[in-house]
Amino acid sequence: MSNATQKVLLLHSSREGQTKKILHYIESQLGERAQCDVSDLHQVPTLDLTQYDRVLIGASIRYGHFNKKLYQFIDTHSEQLNRVKAGFFSVNLTARKPGKDTAETSAYSRKFLEKSPWTPQLHGVFAGALYYPRYKWFDRMMIRLIMHITGGETDTSKEVEYTDWQKVKAFTDQFAQF
Ligand SMILES: Cc1cc2nc3c(=O)[nH]c(=O)nc-3n(C[C@H](O)[C@H](O)[C@H](O)COP(=O)(O)O)c2cc1C
Repeated sequence: MSNATQKVLLLHSSREGQTKKILHYIESQLGERAQCDVSDLHQVPTLDLTQYDRVLIGASIRYGHFNKKLYQFIDTHSEQLNRVKAGFFSVNLTARKPGKDTAETSAYSRKFLEKSPWTPQLHGVFAGALYYPRYKWFDRMMIRLIMHITGGETDTSKEVEYTDWQKVKAFTDQFAQF
C-alpha cells in the first residue's frame, strides 16, 4: 500500500461471528493505512467494487460448504473481482491442523477454486473457533462427533478459539502490499 490512505472493503460470510471477528482484527491491523468499510456479505446489494483500492472477502465453512450467498456474490461480481485487487480467506476448524491450513492444502479451498469464476490473487486459510455452548443441540452433537474423530476438544462445556492471530497479522501485511 502506498503512503496515501486507501479505501478498503472487508466482507464477511459468517455464522457464529468468528470470520467477522477476524475481519475486524484485520481492520485494526491495517490501521491508518486504510479507510475500511466492513459489511455482511449476506446482506449487501450489488456493489461497485471498482470504487475500492482493495477488497477482502472472508467466509466460514459449515458442514463442508461455504454459504451459497458467497458464490452468488462472486458470480454477480466476478468481472470486477478479477479487475480490482481482491483477496479471500476461509475459516474452518480443519485448518487448526498443520498441513490443512493453506490454499493448496485445504480441501475447502481447492473445491472453492474449482467452483468460483474468480481466482483470488491472495488466498488465506485460518482456523476458526469452537463454541459448543452456543450451538443448537444437533449441531453440538455433530461437531462433537467430528472432534472425536479428528482428535479435537469433545467437552461440550468448552469454548476454544483456534485462530492464530499472528498468522492473520502476517496475512494483513500481505494484503496491504500485494
Ligand atoms: C454447525 C457447524 C458445522 C461446521 N462444519 C465444519 C466443517 O464441515 N468443517 C470444518 O472444518 N469446520 C466446520 N465448522 C467449524 C466452523 O467453520 C468454525 O467454527 C468457524 O469458526 C465458524 O466461523 P463463523 O463463526 O464465522 O461462521 C462447523 C461449525 C458449525 C457450528
